[in-house]
Amino acid sequence: MNSLVTDAQKAGERVGLTFDRITIEGGVPLRGRIEVRGAKNLVTKAMVASLLGETSSLLRGVPDISDVRVVRGLLEVHGVKVTEGTEPGDLILDPSNVVTAHMADIDAHAGSSRIPILFCGPLLHQLGEAFIPDLGGCRIGDRPIDFHLDALRQFGAVVDKLPSGIRITAPNGLHGANIELPYPSVGATEQVLLTATRAEGITELRNAAIEPEIMDLIAILQKMGAIISVEPNRVILIEGVEKLEGYTHRAIFDRNEAASWASAALATGGDVFVGGAKQEHMMTFLNIFRKVGGKFDIYEDGIRFYHPGCALKPVVIETDVHPGFMTDWQQPLVVALTQATGLSIVHETVYENRFGFTDALVGMGANIQVYKECLGGRPCRFGQRNFLHSAVISGPTPLEAAEIEVPDLRGGFSHLIAALAAKGTSTVRGIGLIDRGYEHFTDKLTALGAEFSRD
Ligand code: EPZ
Repeated sequence: MNSLVTDAQKAGERVGLTFDRITIEGGVPLRGRIEVRGAKNLVTKAMVASLLGETSSLLRGVPDISDVRVVRGLLEVHGVKVTEGTEPGDLILDPSNVVTAHMADIDAHAGSSRIPILFCGPLLHQLGEAFIPDLGGCRIGDRPIDFHLDALRQFGAVVDKLPSGIRITAPNGLHGANIELPYPSVGATEQVLLTATRAEGITELRNAAIEPEIMDLIAILQKMGAIISVEPNRVILIEGVEKLEGYTHRAIFDRNEAASWASAALATGGDVFVGGAKQEHMMTFLNIFRKVGGKFDIYEDGIRFYHPGCALKPVVIETDVHPGFMTDWQQPLVVALTQATGLSIVHETVYENRFGFTDALVGMGANIQVYKECLGGRPCRFGQRNFLHSAVISGPTPLEAAEIEVPDLRGGFSHLIAALAAKGTSTVRGIGLIDRGYEHFTDKLTALGAEFSRD
């Protein structure tokens, strides 16, 4: 285990993220209804956006997950007062007393998440400087922050790399810039949005990510007073404004969580109604789900996902930025693909190293091989670089119970699904990592009739 993971573990423990294990009696189809709330990958950024306002913000639909607790802790050490509102899932964020945090308090968050990098722009606007601890997040590739730092420099920021993190200052203020991202990175697009809204002048961002969570962040910033237009061909224009107010906003639903439960329904031969899921942000997933043979019915208040009762079919998937098939969807779905009749191919083009989780599935009886070549579609930027980024899944293979360890958030959920689908008693260790992004998932398992105990 490397030292980053150890830092992440320490930071995780501080926010109540434990390294528990779960013992699952598998082979029981998941059946019932669960609810998903606000998307982890919007809510955490919306919390950071509150730092830009002069008045309090009210964020609704916030899930009780440890990534939210990490960001809350970091906001609090910077003087933001965070309280619960009247409805469950309400967070009130009051930035009227933002202060420079003590180094030790910031350091305590080292390795806990990737969100701290997004504090740069807002803190530079509020305080003229920012210190960002070493980042955490899932170990699914190198996950560099060069796009973020290059963009910040283009706004006029000065970046000093220190042994424990990064210090950023803006001696001459922040000015609008012309930025072209080398890849439509979600985080770097958010970095530019959060920095440009209050920078002097106009920013043109090219090759931007346009995920629904980013559109929701833009909606929040517009509510705060920002002027942002999304143009054709991944171009976003931001006219800097002098000040922003707080916002009231209900977070977009978590489409990654919804897709995970859909995959669990398919892999276990079950029938799960995901309350809060919406078709419009899941269309690419729904197309693939249907091609595999999965059934779904769309309702006003959610989507019902269920097994067809006959053999599942193999598919070829290429992960991509929006509107492509999300990288976060592939790990849970791969478990269902082990039950499809024939050869499925998954070409991962977003992260270079996101198939480590398949080792455990192979240990449980799955037939999965990973390749360095770009299989199943167009060549991607990892093809020439020796990364095992294509997987061939041959099914159907019954899964056998096993003792497994959670490698990362989505890989962990896929292990959970495998244990639920396998006949016999499996143990999944380190499930605290799943709490990072899946709200009360053991309560949801209970609601769906799973047989398990959590120690
Ligand atoms: C966000 O990560 C999500 N995390 C990820 O979800 C998600 O998988 C990813 O976007 C893609 O949709 C959060 O929102 C907290 P990127 P992010 O910048 O922003 C490379 C989950 O399970 N890159 O779009 O960190 C990078 O290495 C998580 O919920 C650089 O090279 O992803 C990757 O190959 C996992 N340099 C690609 O871009 C940079 O400076 C896309 O990463 C930044 C990114």
